[in-house]
Amino acid sequence: MEERLLAIREAGFNTFLLKADDVFLDMLTDSGVNAMTVEQLAGMVSAQDAYAGSNTYEELARAVEEVLGFKYTLPVHQGRAAEHLIARTLVRQGSFVVTNFHFTTTRAHVELAGGVLVELPIPEALDASSEHPFKGNMDTVRLEEFLARNHERTAFVRVEALANLLGGQPVSMENIKLVKEICERYGVPLVIDGSMIDWNSYFVKERELGSWPLGKIIKEFASHADVFYMSARKAGSVRGGLLATNNRELYEKIAVLLPVFEGFLSYGGMSVKEIAALAMGLRQLTEEELIGSEIELIRYGVRELDKAGVPVVKPPGGLGIHVDALKFLENVPRNRYPAGALTAAFYIASGIRGMERGAISNDRLPDGREEYPALELMRLAFPRKTYLRSHVEYLVDRLVWLYENRDVVKGLEWVYEPPVLRFFLGRLRDVGNWSQTLADKYRREFGER
Ligand code: F0G
Repeated sequence: MEERLLAIREAGFNTFLLKADDVFLDMLTDSGVNAMTVEQLAGMVSAQDAYAGSNTYEELARAVEEVLGFKYTLPVHQGRAAEHLIARTLVRQGSFVVTNFHFTTTRAHVELAGGVLVELPIPEALDASSEHPFKGNMDTVRLEEFLARNHERTAFVRVEALANLLGGQPVSMENIKLVKEICERYGVPLVIDGSMIDWNSYFVKERELGSWPLGKIIKEFASHADVFYMSARKAGSVRGGLLATNNRELYEKIAVLLPVFEGFLSYGGMSVKEIAALAMGLRQLTEEELIGSEIELIRYGVRELDKAGVPVVKPPGGLGIHVDALKFLENVPRNRYPAGALTAAFYIASGIRGMERGAISNDRLPDGREEYPALELMRLAFPRKTYLRSHVEYLVDRLVWLYENRDVVKGLEWVYEPPVLRFFLGRLRDVGNWSQTLADKYRREFGER
């Protein structure tokens, strides 16, 4: 306990700054920490290491064509690199980019390129307790209205398949089809962020297209994109990322930027070994049992937490368990960052490292004011093929304990606040030294461990 208390203080109450050695269960993210399959590991051994013209790249391009349906594939060093190249190619000063919901790095790249991000989620998405089956859907009525007025200034529409910051909530096939129809009517390209298309497709199968195999759902969903990209650190279960399209003109525009920012066309900043693992990872996206196992664990955890009265995002989505910090810490005001305080407190109480997904993850407006997001969440992510039910039982046990002792937790205030993506490197302190009180309470019940 003493060590965890010291560690979180040294980390400025920011779980990004904890050392992995000080963490018991690392649920910060599923990014770059998924276990690989034996087939992926085998592929890495036989990858063809060549700067240009490697047949491992060709295997990747074949996997992209067969699984996702795109003729042109550009590897990039990770998802945000794809966002950078897309923004650089399509966004002009003052352009709009319309999205179902932002991701942190997407917003940063759109804004750095001079664009303005417009979010059009359905209203249910911002209500943590709404049981809508597709809370990741875009509000197509508002999209139509927006494009009718602004299509000339709109660089692209972006749909995130499994909306990360909404709590891993899926987008339906019906919705992506409608969004595509509207985009076509106004001549605006549709970009799909497919970083978690596997989990999204699992929900589509479960709730919409039960008789379709997962592979068919993935390919059909992706077929709506003019440009498709993904962080391969998540669903691909490796490192890196990729960008794919059937539009030759767009491909050529982006391809010329690749050697400047990423690397040659056949490796794009990744190692050839990772490209081999990614090619196999893409093929394995269609394996239902593999893709569904974390969703089932998340569901189990959410059910148990819900039974104990802990406020969680419902219905359970992909990616992780999302705890509603606004309800959990009702007495902590928004300018004291409830989700950040909850995430730090939960680390003290469990050794589990989660991630703040609330106001701290949202940078300030250009005039310095805070823009508080509708959702203030603690995310406990499930890396693929890593955790078991007993881990979830431990998580539930400690989170229920923390909920019973929640009055101890006050908020956080800034010590060092970086100007952009402040959640990565920012440092805070606990208002009124509540971490000590929490640790003392913990010790009385559980001892020193
Ligand atoms: N898009 C989505 C939907 C993501 O979840 C991420 C990363 C990115 C883009 C950026 O990709 O990290 O490879 O540059 N999500 C990670 C997470 C970081 O923890 O949710 P990247």
